[in-house]
Amino acid sequence: MRVLSVVGLQWGDEGKGKVLDRLSEDVDLVVRYQGGNNAGHTVIVGTEKYALHHIPSGILRDTGRCLIANGSVVDPDALVTEIAGLEDRGVRVRDRLFVSDRAHLILPSHVALDRANEKAAGSGSIGTTGRGIGPCYADKASRIGVRVGDLRHPDGLVDRIARHLEVKNHLFTTLYDMPAFDAASIAEGLLAHREILGPMIADTSRMVHDSIERGETILLEGSQGVLLDIDLGTYPYVTSSNSSACGISAGTGIPPACVEDVIGVMKAYVTRVGEGPFPTELHGEEGDALRDRGGEYGTTTGRPRRCGWLDLVAARYAIRVSGIRRVALTKLDVLCGADPIQVCTGYRIGDETTTEFPSHVSDLESIEPVYESFDGFDEDITGAKRFDDLPKNARRYIEALEERLGIRLFMISVGSERDQTILRES
Ligand code: GDP
Ligand code: IMO
Ligand code: MG
Repeated sequence: MRVLSVVGLQWGDEGKGKVLDRLSEDVDLVVRYQGGNNAGHTVIVGTEKYALHHIPSGILRDTGRCLIANGSVVDPDALVTEIAGLEDRGVRVRDRLFVSDRAHLILPSHVALDRANEKAAGSGSIGTTGRGIGPCYADKASRIGVRVGDLRHPDGLVDRIARHLEVKNHLFTTLYDMPAFDAASIAEGLLAHREILGPMIADTSRMVHDSIERGETILLEGSQGVLLDIDLGTYPYVTSSNSSACGISAGTGIPPACVEDVIGVMKAYVTRVGEGPFPTELHGEEGDALRDRGGEYGTTTGRPRRCGWLDLVAARYAIRVSGIRRVALTKLDVLCGADPIQVCTGYRIGDETTTEFPSHVSDLESIEPVYESFDGFDEDITGAKRFDDLPKNARRYIEALEERLGIRLFMISVGSERDQTILRES
């Protein structure tokens, strides 16, 4: 039995999709444990490019099953569209994908509320993906959510939706000057998807336990990243779920002790979409150059990503709180031509330098990064197959990161394709 988990170490978009795809070759189950269609995982297979939102990356391998577990939130319209889009391209989905009966449904009213809240917040907005994620998780915590399993109990569905709309309709009509939502029409829209989604609804926690008992290999797919975790991230500029490894147990029903290995995915630089503190952000030409070379535009919303140097203070924190044992470094090729390559090793606050990641955004906003410089490399590394194929300065950079983080960079990604990956161990 192997239960592995893959977690983003930054503010999302680290290249988890590519790493998960690379690791899911002989995996029996791939499980999403939190988040919804705010995620955008791009996977390139040969000449085909796939953008996955709800569906785990393992679906692109022809073997194994994929689960959207109970910690996830599901927009049924978006999920059905994603399934159809993949099936049109010849990917087998319907007999391999299962959705937890305990996962919460994102309703059109959640999406509308997310967007209206953001608009009303003006300069204080979070910069959400506008997919209804926050309002859906808020209803879950308020115990007025509607769950996937409710689709199997149509008799009570309108009442559950009406309960969720009670206060919201008041907000829409009085505060936001928007029309109210009608519970019966929302229910009708949901039930229209029963033919496709009905056979996929399952007790995914039972499926995972049975798989563990059979000694199968399970890959747990994280969305977003540790710094967007609602508890451990840069609150309030976070998503509304536990996107660090801490979300695994609650989000799947797997006891913590069963997770054997947590793999962190770290980009060779940092990006962030949306608002919030970003100590190593580069404004101007240097940031633009990273964005251009790395193609840093959101997979979900198309927004340009903010770019900056690698931040080892934040990375050490993310590694610590997620119990990471090994790290996959991605997009090393994008640093080609950057000279020097800078890495943040500490934060200066007034006269003091710290290597601890602050919990308060105002501290994060006021720190000044302390940088260490490394000689860059100009050689094209996108064809490198082994560590020794990399130029001397790239190898030095990797070894310095390993030394400063105290962790093994077991996988180095040098391009977006499956085989543009240097594996330093099996
Ligand atoms: P995720 O949300 O963590 O899965 O990451 P995204 O898919 O949103 O963004 C990562 C982008 O970088 C995708 O377009 C990938 O195809 C691409 N990518 C992944 N690894 C590499 C790499 O090593 N080099 C380059 N140049 N691109 C990569
Ligand atoms: P993947 O899985 C990058 C960000 C949004 C916003 C904040 C809250 O592709 O790495 P939300 O819609 O979740 O309420 O928005 O979180 N965000 C992401 N940023 N990658 C993602 O997913 C993200 N999912 C949410 O931009 O700042
Ligand atoms: Mg992404």
